[in-house]
Amino acid sequence: MITKKYVADIELKRDEVESFDRYPFSLAAVRPLEKLEFHPAVTFFIGENGSGKSTLLEAIAVACGFNAEGGSKNFRFGTRESHSELHRFLRVSRGHPRPRDGFFFRAESFFNVATEIENLGVGPSYSEHSLHEQSHGESFLALVLNRFRGNGLYLLDEPEAALSPQRQLAVMTRIHDLVQERSQFIIATHSPILTAYPDAIIYQFSSGGIERIAYEETEHYRITRDFLANPQRMLKILFEQ
Ligand SMILES: Nc1ncnc2c1ncn2[C@@H]1O[C@H](COP(=O)(O)OP(=O)(O)O)[C@@H](O)[C@H]1O
Ligand SMILES: [Mg+2]
Repeated sequence: MITKKYVADIELKRDEVESFDRYPFSLAAVRPLEKLEFHPAVTFFIGENGSGKSTLLEAIAVACGFNAEGGSKNFRFGTRESHSELHRFLRVSRGHPRPRDGFFFRAESFFNVATEIENLGVGPSYSEHSLHEQSHGESFLALVLNRFRGNGLYLLDEPEAALSPQRQLAVMTRIHDLVQERSQFIIATHSPILTAYPDAIIYQFSSGGIERIAYEETEHYRITRDFLANPQRMLKILFEQ
């Protein structure tokens, strides 16, 4: 792999945390956190809704100089009232050289990012058409295909949110190309397709904290596999309960 690590690891400055009893330090994923190492190519955050994936990803993004709401490093708008203070308690070990490109994508505020892209008058480099005139999935795909240029650090929060399975495969192909062009990805996702990316680190967020697991051990993989192997059987079990 010809990838560089732009973010080698993060460390929680535990001795600076006053209390682990309040958000975001009280999250099961954050409370025991010490150090988390990243793959030079692709690292995934998986886990139940509310397990803290977005909180940690956002903190890493802000600590790396991105706008909390998403976008490239030039984006300085904000419509969310606040992001958590977690970023101030993270020590980020950066590799060399620095990334030449970067983007923090969060599905939940992509509409605002699309607006900002238009306000900045930089729309055409993203896509031929206004991002607002495309479906959510189309505009995200346009972003990944046209705007991500390689030699970059890309933080993606649920990129699969609006994508058909076919488009998820297209994104996977693009991620692979960008990895060949010395890019690093950290991706929070529920997608059993994306998490199959070869050789990636998968971190599972749970009540016990954050632990690394193999693709085949993920709930996403096992439940999808079992369901598709015999949908009728699974439905019968579900409806009988
Ligand atoms: N500003 C906040 N104050 C208190 N709790 C919050 C705040 N923002 C998010 N949370 C809570 O933190 C938990 C983790 O949220 P989040 O990081 O978005 O989870 P995930 O991305 O894994 O679904 C959730 O239970 C959420 O309700
Ligand atoms: Mg989330």
